[in-house]
Amino acid sequence: MKIGNKIVRLASVDSTNNYIANLVKEREIASGTVVLADEQFSGKGQRGSEWTTNAGENLTFSFFLDNVNLSVENQFVLTQLVSLSLIELLEKLDVKAKIKWPNDIYIDSKKVAGVLIENQLSFGQIKSSIIGIGLNVNQKEFEGFNATSLFLENEVHHSLMDILLSFIDSFNKIASQYSLNATSRIKEEYLKNLYLFEQEVFFEDDNGRFTGRIFDVLPSGKILIAVNGFDREYDLKEIRFL
Ligand code: BTN
Repeated sequence: MKIGNKIVRLASVDSTNNYIANLVKEREIASGTVVLADEQFSGKGQRGSEWTTNAGENLTFSFFLDNVNLSVENQFVLTQLVSLSLIELLEKLDVKAKIKWPNDIYIDSKKVAGVLIENQLSFGQIKSSIIGIGLNVNQKEFEGFNATSLFLENEVHHSLMDILLSFIDSFNKIASQYSLNATSRIKEEYLKNLYLFEQEVFFEDDNGRFTGRIFDVLPSGKILIAVNGFDREYDLKEIRFL
């Protein structure tokens, strides 16, 4: 699962995830290829949202993993590996971050990075995966967004390419450290780095607000929350943090 043998830098593209998806359709991409764009004019976020970011100031990139061969029921292990790679990258830069379930990266209570994973499935297996990452690096203002950047945290201006290369090293290290079968060890590490883990906080579901405590995640990616002595299971679209 090594990435970074080939790095493609584009001046401008709709979305680096879409760019890779097109190459996959044409069968013209090798596993591990990383595509980075200085500007995305139609960047995609989770839950059908947009990912907008100042051109040239932040990292917007995706990479392709072929032959993943992971069952859909265990798909969360990939999310966990990517999240842990981002945490390790930030640690190298002296920034302490946490993972907000499922895969947002937060510094204190502000978002510094987001991940969008799009899997290609075949007979209940993840055949290949396009993993897109938006990391706020040098942007100084985020009007109307609860967001931060590396610059705002430590007042250092970073080269985007250096940060990308450092991420590639972190991913390759973490991916070789844990095989995709090491699900319980990966989960243990993920929970150690999970934002608001084991804390009593407010959530909202279709029935309204409630307080609960995150105590586990399932291999599918669902989150387990203890509410008034009962355990509840939620999927991404079923719950919001308040
Ligand atoms: C989110 O937190 O909502 C996920 C954001 C993912 C954004 C990245 S930027 C590079 C890649 N290309 C996209 O269109 N989206 C991802």
